[in-house]
Amino acid sequence: MIRCTGLNNVKEGETKKIEIDGKDLLIVNIRGELKCFSRWCPHKGGDLAYGDFIGGNQIKCHLHGYIYNLDTGNAVYIPYRDGYGKWKDTLNLEVYRVVNKDGEICIEMK
Ligand code: FES
Repeated sequence: MIRCTGLNNVKEGETKKIEIDGKDLLIVNIRGELKCFSRWCPHKGGDLAYGDFIGGNQIKCHLHGYIYNLDTGNAVYIPYRDGYGKWKDTLNLEVYRVVNKDGEICIEMK
């Protein structure tokens, strides 16, 4: 299901917090490419709005340093696994496809 954001532009290097269907998401523009993913880190719920972007497709959580691939959602660096599984059942970040619909930024929800 495609859901539109009401946004028609996210500038390069900018991060926008949005909420769709009760899900908190982030949209970022990395080198001209829009990416959308869950705002909360699967490890312990860190706010990825404060994360550091690495290269063109990774984000590092500011709390404990987990790194996620923003194309697949896979955790690509896990510094340690203290108590993992208590907050989420998966280590993967939810990622969503971004589509342009008549000039508006829309998200393909799962
Ligand atoms: S909450 Fe993000 S790495 Fe721990």
